[in-house]
Amino acid sequence: MGSGSETTCLTIPEHVLTSSGRRMQRLGFGTAAYPLVTPEVTKAAILQAIKLGYRHFDTAYIYGSEQPLGDAIVEAISLGLIKSRDELFITSKLWCSDAYGDLVLPAIHRSLQNLKLEYLDLYLIHFPLSLERGLYEFGVRKEAIVPMDFVSVWTAMEECQRLGLTKSIGISNFSCKKLADILAFAKIPPAVNQVEFNPLWNQKKLREFCNANGILVIGYSPLGASGTLWGSNQVLENEVLKEIADTKGKTVAQICLRWAMEEGVGVIVKSFNGERMKQNLEIFDWSLSEEESKRIDQLPQSRCSTGELFVDEHGTFKTVEEFWDGEV
Ligand code: A2P
Repeated sequence: MGSGSETTCLTIPEHVLTSSGRRMQRLGFGTAAYPLVTPEVTKAAILQAIKLGYRHFDTAYIYGSEQPLGDAIVEAISLGLIKSRDELFITSKLWCSDAYGDLVLPAIHRSLQNLKLEYLDLYLIHFPLSLERGLYEFGVRKEAIVPMDFVSVWTAMEECQRLGLTKSIGISNFSCKKLADILAFAKIPPAVNQVEFNPLWNQKKLREFCNANGILVIGYSPLGASGTLWGSNQVLENEVLKEIADTKGKTVAQICLRWAMEEGVGVIVKSFNGERMKQNLEIFDWSLSEEESKRIDQLPQSRCSTGELFVDEHGTFKTVEEFWDGEV
């Protein structure tokens, strides 16, 4: 990890979740590392992030980062970096092999135990599919994918919120169509849909649909998740973004994050490098011009996370179009 000097960061704008009244920094810190790293590396990165001012942390059972995040929180409190867990906003996600009505409560209890917490701020269904029970390997085996029973899984998610195990519930990687399927019967509507969001996949349609239904969009892969299994370097290598960055004396990453803030979307950005995690916070005392925003708005659109991982000609989702319900 780099040695980024620890300065007080500029204040990160917050969003208050209407479902819980909990305050959430709109720039969250991602903990999914690929290639995989040791728990010690993850914990050290999170502690440094807390020192720099990040208070919103995104994890998932399948990332293997719940335990190091829990350890970092304990240490941050003992070091006096934060007074209590209440100062943090913590999201975790239900893995697909637990996406069965009877497995949701045991799964959230397991995540809470890993995190050493009494409650989550937000618990999300990780993907709109189930995997064979008992499969907890990192990655998705296509032949193990089965359709999810939305009613029983969402009803169990609602129970998690009623029991106080999480303040809010939501979904991730859901198309407008699948989101509408949930809304048709939900007693507690999803507070959040966490989806890919960056200048090359700006989710115009989904954001309109979510806004109209009072659902907050939180973006993952704001930098295109370069170097990971699920991302690409298209965003950071984009010529238009590079030109804008050069003109402003900023990095492409900063342009992407500033743009996301100006679009009113919350984003989760991952860096375990001290200099870059600091750089990613330095986006609150300047802005994009109208012309620059317009150029970004006009960039050709394509997903970095294509959904290919879930598609098999003999499987539950036969094409990428089917997985995203034509929203490609
Ligand atoms: P690293 O952890 O070494 O900084 P995303 O947030 O879109 O998922 O992207 C995460 C990827 O982008 C990680 O590989 C991360 O690597 C890298 N990254 C994070 N911040 C920056 C930055 N400011 N400049 C360049 N790469 C970055």
